[in-house]
Amino acid sequence: MERKKVFINKVIPEAGLRLLEAAGLDYTMWREKPVLDREQAILFCKGHDAFLSAGQSGLDADFFEQCSHLKVVALHSVGFDGVDIAAATKHGVPIGNTPNVLNRATAETALLLMLTVARKALFLHKQIQKGAWGVSQPTQDLGIDIAGKTLGVVGLGRIGTELATMCAKSWNMKIIYHNRSRNEEAERELGAEWVSFDDLLGQSDIVSVHTALTEETRGMFDLKAFKKMKSSAIFVNTARGGVHDENDLIQALQEGVIWGAGLDVTNPEPMSSESPLLNMENAVVFPHIGSSTFETRNEMARCAAENIIAGLNGERLPYPVNPEVYGNDNINTPQ
Ligand code: DGY
Repeated sequence: MERKKVFINKVIPEAGLRLLEAAGLDYTMWREKPVLDREQAILFCKGHDAFLSAGQSGLDADFFEQCSHLKVVALHSVGFDGVDIAAATKHGVPIGNTPNVLNRATAETALLLMLTVARKALFLHKQIQKGAWGVSQPTQDLGIDIAGKTLGVVGLGRIGTELATMCAKSWNMKIIYHNRSRNEEAERELGAEWVSFDDLLGQSDIVSVHTALTEETRGMFDLKAFKKMKSSAIFVNTARGGVHDENDLIQALQEGVIWGAGLDVTNPEPMSSESPLLNMENAVVFPHIGSSTFETRNEMARCAAENIIAGLNGERLPYPVNPEVYGNDNINTPQ
């Protein structure tokens, strides 16, 4: 029988490659810089049975029209906001993602941002580089304690709950949250309290965003929202840059509407090196490193490979994004 072929658009950890090899699959992995554009990715996909996609842009309706032969598209991410899921389903292409395995690493990134902003750590580090480590004054360069403060989580799902657990258990923080649906387990285990979006803005000392980017959440943090926050509050976003309006955030920080901000996601990505956020005392920006640990990336590669193997065996993906595809007469079963 002819061996099935997988196209991988970036270099992924060995853990995933070994699984593909053990399953008797051949793969082509794009190892060059720059990364492939959409048209090149389509050409490669046309010669393969499955696509393992690490952050490929342009997975839109036309992509699935042209690549409707794919038996599976396995994302090397938990987020799938860049993928036209309805189009994939229409063409019978199962999409898989990597849920859960990056909860801890992403929550720790949010915590790192919270603490770095609260203690002005990055700004003070830059001061030393400038030779400005002067005589310490008792009232100079003071930060904010996070212990005992109120954390407002927008999107208390898997990652938000991981952060809320760390903050409640290690820092004795009060947890409030805003979701479309109630998280009863977090209410029971952490004493988390559901509040309206406006109440969350008004009561939180730190607001941390963990919601998916949807039409409903796009731009939900605009100047109007920042003005409802405490002037001593810190805004943290490790979810998607599109959830905040970056110009409004810059204005809010410049005018002291809020105290500080920590971003692991920006809008657009990559952020321009000219962004005023990079030179502000009260802002910290990371280049989308939420899942960037050896352990987490190995696990993500494993999930993605498991999705590929199941899809090519004609089985239900272990981590499906569009399970509705299985009710679809069009479903791409291997020949
Ligand atoms: C994801 O997996 O969606 C995270 O943003 C990491 O890239």
